[in-house]
Amino acid sequence: MLGDHRTDKDRQLDDVRVDYQDTALTTDHGIRIDDTDNSLRPGERGPTLMEDFHFREKLTHFDHERIPERVVHARGSAAHGYFEPYDAALAPFTRAQFLTTPGLRTPVFVRFSTVVGSRGSADTVRDVRGFAVKFYTAQGNFDLVGNNIPVFFIQDGIKFPDIVHAAKPEPHNEIPQASTAHDTLWDFVRLQPESTHMMMWVMSDRALPRSYRMMQGFGVHTFRLVNAEGRGTFVKFHWKPKLGIHSLVWDETQKIAGKDPDFNRRDLWEAIVTGNFPEWELGVQLVAEEDEHSFDFDLLDATKIIPEELVPVQPVGRLVLDRNPDNFFAETEQVAFHLGNVVPGIDFTNDPLLQSRLFSYLDTQLIRLGGPNFPQIPINRPLAEVRNHHRDGYHQMIIPRGRASYHPNSTGGGCPAVGGPDAYTHFQERVDGHKIRKRSASFADHYSQATLFWNSMSSWERAHIVAAFRFELGRVVDPDIREGVVRNLSNVDHELASLVAAGIGVAPPAEPAVPNHGLSSPALSQAHAPVRSV
Ligand code: HEM
Repeated sequence: MLGDHRTDKDRQLDDVRVDYQDTALTTDHGIRIDDTDNSLRPGERGPTLMEDFHFREKLTHFDHERIPERVVHARGSAAHGYFEPYDAALAPFTRAQFLTTPGLRTPVFVRFSTVVGSRGSADTVRDVRGFAVKFYTAQGNFDLVGNNIPVFFIQDGIKFPDIVHAAKPEPHNEIPQASTAHDTLWDFVRLQPESTHMMMWVMSDRALPRSYRMMQGFGVHTFRLVNAEGRGTFVKFHWKPKLGIHSLVWDETQKIAGKDPDFNRRDLWEAIVTGNFPEWELGVQLVAEEDEHSFDFDLLDATKIIPEELVPVQPVGRLVLDRNPDNFFAETEQVAFHLGNVVPGIDFTNDPLLQSRLFSYLDTQLIRLGGPNFPQIPINRPLAEVRNHHRDGYHQMIIPRGRASYHPNSTGGGCPAVGGPDAYTHFQERVDGHKIRKRSASFADHYSQATLFWNSMSSWERAHIVAAFRFELGRVVDPDIREGVVRNLSNVDHELASLVAAGIGVAPPAEPAVPNHGLSSPALSQAHAPVRSV
């Protein structure tokens, strides 16, 4: 049902929507069909004839229905809606008009997902949830491809295949499907202490959301806003649900996974059908360029949050989802989010995880969606005009006219103008250094914020975390891996490690002689001076 809030994206999609009521059945080439239940054969009991073009086409199309599922985040649910900024508060910081024009409603398509499970897996597993938003702005598409947890497992995307291979079902027997309870994941975790902070979140109730409508979202990385003068400001993006944050408890997730594996998907769908439109507030944490090094962690390290006590989250706008997709495959499956889709006024930083993602999304979509023309798929098409000299490729859906497909030209193909006030200009950052494979020393503290997280938990939240570690690690077969994880946890909190150890048959860990591997943890110190927030 289309509500009163038809957006420009709704109107654009009208061109490709098809209804089948009161129409005649045809082939893909428009030939009307006289019978779709009996194939053509000589006599009543003869073989099917090759010349039955309708039979061949029907079967062939069916045989080719599947495309590869996403390599991660394969199971998802999506909805249409809009974003509107509250006011022009961000105007001094960014040229992005959709963030700074009060009352301007930008159409969005939002896809929520689990990460590890395949397309048909259950919704209520212990996992991170994706929160990907495509803004169809007048300056082009902006994708904010985030998660419901504000940090990540690794600091450098070159390890992404490793963490995903460790977390996915094991390669020899494809067990376990969509579960964090297996040796390979915990082996990776104990050998890569940088994943400790994220694992604390994943063992908490945050990894068991009651509903997509009751879940936070985070852009995770530090991005950059850029204003009309070219001045940059670091930014972290936050989505806060209007309904508050709610989780299931572990036993509920187990029962629901059996009784209704579509629990979160159904909840989102039905909320929209009944007019209970889910809503989130967009918030930003802003840090001036000159304060880049004012923290005891590195802003470029995606395993760290910026504590809100240091830099408060400022509310800037709201996101409302008010329409379900018409077709799951055409929209939810074919939508292609990409961190690299930015509009003027938003730019990247040198976060090595962010940088790697800039390569990976487009690369995977080229195979998942069959070649370079997937931005022309209706759900991916921008509302902004597309004019360039890209040419040919599988599934070209437009008919570029004229002789020339190069720039500059004078042969009559047209020469779209380059530059102008609306053109994207990269932030002019000075970068200087030797080519090396080396992590900055400022990325070395893997425990302070894990401890911060643990210390911020109430007693019942801690009990849930301990129970989660006991359950997940209790199913790890190799005792060395279990012990290794417990040793690692003792750097977070000795009591946590001891409680986990007691539940999984591991000797209690010795108290670390030098907590936190001897690294300073001023993030925990009350003495830390608050950073100027802009
Ligand atoms: C898919 C978030 C890190 C590669 C996704 C999706 C989300 C997401 C939300 C699902 C998009 C959708 O709904 O279609 C994140 C976050 C990350 C992160 C928040 C860290 C902060 C990475 C890294 C890589 C990566 C480091 C690779 C270097 C992929 C790939 C897909 C994906 C290949 C599938 C995309 C597709 O097939 O369309 N990610 N991701 N991600 N992510 Fe990430």
